[in-house]
Amino acid sequence: MKAVLMAIAAAGLLAAGSSQAQTGMEVLKTKGCLGCHAFDKKKVGPAYKDVAAKHRGEKDAQAQLVAKIKAGNPHPKLNVTDAELNAAVKQVLSTK
Ligand code: HEC
Repeated sequence: MKAVLMAIAAAGLLAAGSSQAQTGMEVLKTKGCLGCHAFDKKKVGPAYKDVAAKHRGEKDAQAQLVAKIKAGNPHPKLNVTDAELNAAVKQVLSTK
């Protein structure tokens, strides 16, 4: 009985973990970012490679881009959580 309860608790933890801790790459794919962006070429929005190059060396690029995208101006408004956006921007900025 105890083992069964433990198993259920563990499964619950796993499920919660996977829905919260999406990787930046997963966010880019599942939240439509890649509908407007590609890593190596310009689409509707700039190539992530160029974005990373442009902001390289800026100390607070991560925070600034998150704030800018969240504001939805001029960036199109998106339906993402802060955590998702942070992960996505981190992934974008690490593009080489
Ligand atoms: C409907 C199209 C569209 C979608 C969807 C979209 N973007 Fe963009 N994005 C743009 C356009 C257009 C620009 C250029 C204008 C601007 O800088 O805001 C841009 C610019 C950017 C920039 C560079 C901003 C800068 O100041 O250098 C980043 C980073 C970015 N997008 C990340 C994302 C992320 C992350 C997502 C998904 C969560 C996303 N975008 C989804 C159209 C889109």
